[in-house]
Amino acid sequence: MRKGILSLLAVGVLATGGLTACGDDKSDSGSGDAGKKQKIGVILPDSKSSARWETADRKYLEAAFKAAGVDFDIQNAQGDKAAFQTIAEQMITGGVNVLMIVNLDSGTGKAVLDKAKSAGVATIDYDRLTLGGSASYYVSFDNTAVGKLQGEGLVKCLTDLKATKPIIAELNGSQTDNNATLFKAGYDGVLKAKYDAGEYVKGPDQWVPDWDNTQAGTIFEQMLTSTPNIAGVLAANDGLGNAAINALKKQGLNGKVPVTGQDATVQGLQNILNGDQCMTVYKAVKQEADAAAKLAIGLAKGEKGSTTQKVTDPEGKRDVDAVLLTPKSITKDNVKDVVDDGYVTVAELCTGDFAAKCTAAGIK
Ligand code: BGC
Repeated sequence: MRKGILSLLAVGVLATGGLTACGDDKSDSGSGDAGKKQKIGVILPDSKSSARWETADRKYLEAAFKAAGVDFDIQNAQGDKAAFQTIAEQMITGGVNVLMIVNLDSGTGKAVLDKAKSAGVATIDYDRLTLGGSASYYVSFDNTAVGKLQGEGLVKCLTDLKATKPIIAELNGSQTDNNATLFKAGYDGVLKAKYDAGEYVKGPDQWVPDWDNTQAGTIFEQMLTSTPNIAGVLAANDGLGNAAINALKKQGLNGKVPVTGQDATVQGLQNILNGDQCMTVYKAVKQEADAAAKLAIGLAKGEKGSTTQKVTDPEGKRDVDAVLLTPKSITKDNVKDVVDDGYVTVAELCTGDFAAKCTAAGIK
């Protein structure tokens, strides 16, 4: 517990000044930056809205911090906004000098970022931009591009099925997640052109609170009841897609109604191999975690990181230094790429009945 009483490096501290309240070990007796540890705190959002947070993000961040030999603490708020704030407060008083968050909504995200800032803790928005927030950096994918791939993927599947005037249902992510807004802007851009041309018919369109997969199932069943001839489903991630697929299965419509997804989860990829899901979007989380870890480690050591892009926070009306990575569309033809990239293993994906389907898809 008492490891690291003395900070290993007293040099290169943050230039932000005013570092206060190192209520950790003996450092509170010291004054100023010398007592500040180099420690990175990370708060992940939950483990239900997508498998990625625990299976990918945690793993890759942990590996990057360990490789750099930097002290870190990764916790998961499990979808609880109060817990999210408590974890942040404990990390700040516990002496992290960098805090990286995936917010549960912009309101609590902003409260946490502001608190960190006033304690002299540097901050990074990881994956989700906190609107009106104060993070020094934002690391994510080009989320509008993610949505565009989903829209284009659905169009391709409907074209392959020779669908005429298909009615499209949209299961959006959480309305409080800026990414969900960006995904929707991306796919609506593609679909609107089809609606306007009279080629597609706009059907039910709903946000799923907190990306909750169970609620998504209920919402989609209601959509199917009110609009039984839904012919295509734009689902914003694999979990929401799976909820729609389960409802379609009850009507014997799985595989006949294309469904999109995102995150290249094992479940999503298996749904693709089964022919029940038309596509997913693979975001190489390792790249995202590595980029964020690099910035965090730099900040922890008092260095200024380098970024290539800027995004505008529409609420705070400020430009945030950002790293935005490129997403990739995955269909049955290239599920293999996700395996080749090491994101999922053959052992996880090709279980039971999927063994033969993996072989057919060139995965071994
Ligand atoms: C992430 C997605 C994820 C979703 C639900 C979004 O902010 O970008 O990858 O599926 O949250 O956790």
